[in-house]
Amino acid sequence: MCGIIGITSNKSVSSAIINSLRKLEYRGYDSSGLATLSEGIIYEVKSEGRVDNLEKNLATKNMLGSVGIGHVRWATHGIPNTVNAHPHSSENVSIVHNGIIENSTILKKYLISKGHIFKSQTDTEVIVHLITEYLKENNLKDSIVKMLKQLHGSFALGIIFKDKPDLIVGARRGSPLAVGYGPNENYLGSDSYALKSMTNKISYLDDGEFCVLKKDQVDFFDENGKKVNKKVLELSSNEENYEKGEFKHFMAKEIEEQPTTLKNCIKEYIDNINNDINIFNIPWDLKEISSITLIGCGTAYHSCLMAKYWFEELTKLDVTIDIASEFRYRKNRFKKESLYIFISQSGETADTYAALDLCNKNKMKTCSVVNVIESSIARDSKFVLPIHCGPEIGVASTKAFLGQMMVLYIFTLKLAFLKKDLKKEIYIQKIKDLKNLPQLVEKTLLIESQIQTISSTFTDAKGSMFLGRGFSYPIALEGALKLKELAYVHAEGYPAGEMKHGPLALIEDGIPVVVLAPRDNYYQKTISNMQEVIARGAKVLLITNKSKDEVVSENIWQTIEVENANDDLLPFLLTIPLQKLAYYSALKKGYDIDKPRNLAKSVTVE
Ligand code: AGP
Repeated sequence: MCGIIGITSNKSVSSAIINSLRKLEYRGYDSSGLATLSEGIIYEVKSEGRVDNLEKNLATKNMLGSVGIGHVRWATHGIPNTVNAHPHSSENVSIVHNGIIENSTILKKYLISKGHIFKSQTDTEVIVHLITEYLKENNLKDSIVKMLKQLHGSFALGIIFKDKPDLIVGARRGSPLAVGYGPNENYLGSDSYALKSMTNKISYLDDGEFCVLKKDQVDFFDENGKKVNKKVLELSSNEENYEKGEFKHFMAKEIEEQPTTLKNCIKEYIDNINNDINIFNIPWDLKEISSITLIGCGTAYHSCLMAKYWFEELTKLDVTIDIASEFRYRKNRFKKESLYIFISQSGETADTYAALDLCNKNKMKTCSVVNVIESSIARDSKFVLPIHCGPEIGVASTKAFLGQMMVLYIFTLKLAFLKKDLKKEIYIQKIKDLKNLPQLVEKTLLIESQIQTISSTFTDAKGSMFLGRGFSYPIALEGALKLKELAYVHAEGYPAGEMKHGPLALIEDGIPVVVLAPRDNYYQKTISNMQEVIARGAKVLLITNKSKDEVVSENIWQTIEVENANDDLLPFLLTIPLQKLAYYSALKKGYDIDKPRNLAKSVTVE
């Protein structure tokens, strides 16, 4: 939820730290700060709001030093202001932190009794004074080991010391932390994305480890201070495009990139010649898997729900899904013949990682569907199915959602065929249909001006409903989430058949209701539900697929027709207008579309 960077070099580091903080802003952007060390003096500058504010503030200071740390914050303890912004410093230590220290209250009491004076409301500040206290009587390494054993909760730390002119200490438990190797300089960062512009040689700390970085040497240690060796990974050097290009927002670009996302998945998994699916190196015999559990958060959870419908439709497997933050505390009954699939764009979501860790500890078969292949969830899954959609920078997930659905659908087809739940000719036909999906998405993306026009109805209303049945229900949830997180208006996704069990009371004149009613098996029933809300004054936006048959109903406020496809694939097309509806609603309100308030792209705290 926050982003940290550290650089130790043979040249001034403040501007390189600012550049890295810009790349980390997707992880948190309510405040930021940096500290550098020069000739025994720690220089510190912090600002509320975006990194732009920090850079302006920095211009007024002379931040000397070839060792430094930086931080972008998503507040957990203490309001977003300059005092609570990181770094936090004592007389001789400065720290940046991502995570939550769960025993900070007790530690604070102890440290105050030792005479330490606190300036902020953050949990992080206890770490500063704890290490300062231990350094009074211990050497650096022993002080770190002692401090880490005292801390409960999660952390990724970057620490500099006034009397240690050339080094940075990093430590990790529960929140990701990477080390990058450069020419006469080394780096510490929350993830590879922050380091990619400086190096493609990366090592990842594992939980409990800490490291000591100098500009020409990096040492790693386990929680007891014993040296450990770390692999140096070479990141994909393909210059993935991290820029907006001609688009106004990353989200707009990422919506338009969705056909490419789907083509990447087809390239990766479909054998074009034989119309077969290639998923290599699976460490288990898929035929022995008798049940599937899918786990994720937010949009990734909606992918899980979508996959549940496909698995149930195409296979005889038992399928359960769960929200990661629920799964991790549930009294789970682990089944060894079950496959646990974790969906995560960032691969760093704390709740999803904790659910994965729980399954690993119970020796379950774990597989992850991720976009960031060097992420913690990917590294700690037994098997990874990448979605290859390229960097998704907009906090509101769009192309990653279609990529997750695509990979899960492909995996479902493969499993259905291997388990003989799907006849070969149907399997092949479905693969052929799948290959046409990018073009269908391209056409559906052309629906634009109508959505722009109607978006204000949703932003001016006191709330809205998104209804769907069957395959359309997960998409209704996703459409409501998009509108909530971008336009800050209440929107609720609901099973269309459930409205009469209570939520119908919400319907009154002018309430906008999106009804997803493609001409699938649920069509007639959903049209009936639509008439129920129209009869009570709702303004219905009907989203269906093109057909020669007219929709039999009056008083439909607006209709959008997406391209035709087989029923399995219609959810991909129904999603597009909902993404655009949320985008244009937020645009009308003048909100920050790529960084919506209170949110962050990767939720690395629980
Ligand atoms: C979706 O638009 C949100 N940004 C959020 O719900 C997101 O899907 C969720 O936090 C999970 O993130 P992940 O896919 O990186 O694990």
